[in-house]
Amino acid sequence: MIGIFDSGVGGMTVASTVEQICPQIPLLYFGDVAHTPYGSKSAETILGYARCNIDFLLEQGAKVIIIACNSAAATSIQTLRAEYSVPIIDVITATVSKATEGTKKNRNRRIGIIGTRATIQSGSYEEQIKQRCPACHVYGQECPLLVPLIEEGWLNHRETKMVVRRYLTPLRQHQIDTLILGCTHYPLLTHLIQKRIGRQVQLVDSSIEAAQCLKSFLDNSPEIISNTREKKKNSQPHHLEKNRFFVSDVTPSLQKLANKIFGRNINLIKTDA
Ligand code: DGL
Repeated sequence: MIGIFDSGVGGMTVASTVEQICPQIPLLYFGDVAHTPYGSKSAETILGYARCNIDFLLEQGAKVIIIACNSAAATSIQTLRAEYSVPIIDVITATVSKATEGTKKNRNRRIGIIGTRATIQSGSYEEQIKQRCPACHVYGQECPLLVPLIEEGWLNHRETKMVVRRYLTPLRQHQIDTLILGCTHYPLLTHLIQKRIGRQVQLVDSSIEAAQCLKSFLDNSPEIISNTREKKKNSQPHHLEKNRFFVSDVTPSLQKLANKIFGRNINLIKTDA
């Protein structure tokens, strides 16, 4: 069982990709909607939330954790890996690998990152990019207004377009060739972001990279796969409908977004975890 968490619906972009590329693996999702956004909070507070979220997922039977939240991964990954013995996959490492490979191939080695304030201020992406590609120039842009707009379901509103334009203008001036969507909420705005930054800029989606990273991990960890297969033999066959989605609060806009992300009706289970 794979446990995935985020501050809200953002991590569902990761969960939905995991369903597509590893449909045989059962998922448990936790969206800490009651505390969203994480990205405007202190590193200490985010770490506290991340610990509670992991404890909850482990109690429910998760054997591998995906931190589908850049803000939590950027601020807390080292502490969490030291504290928990389960494998923890994060959104940042895989994303950096894809972005640096991309920019090295006939591109100008100028990478932009958009993310929450916590993610950008942590310097985590920049540090990892420089380790992999010292010649790369890195330009981070905090986008604190995007998560609330997305959680509100304002994916095509004029106001959202204006905010996207405002945040991307400095990155256009830096002539980046690669843009990291350093927040798992942002794939919901890909259409606006790509249009504004220009078709020539390669977008790297942290939700896709995290899901790919899980697949490689499972391919190399037969014991986790075989546990899942054993359960399948002894019980009902696994169907996507069996994946469970817990949230710390439910609102109509959240329900609508969850259904949109998965393309089906998602049963959101409220828990006080
Ligand atoms: N989706 C999250 C991230 O990747 C969290 C955003 C937030 O709650 O601020 O950073």
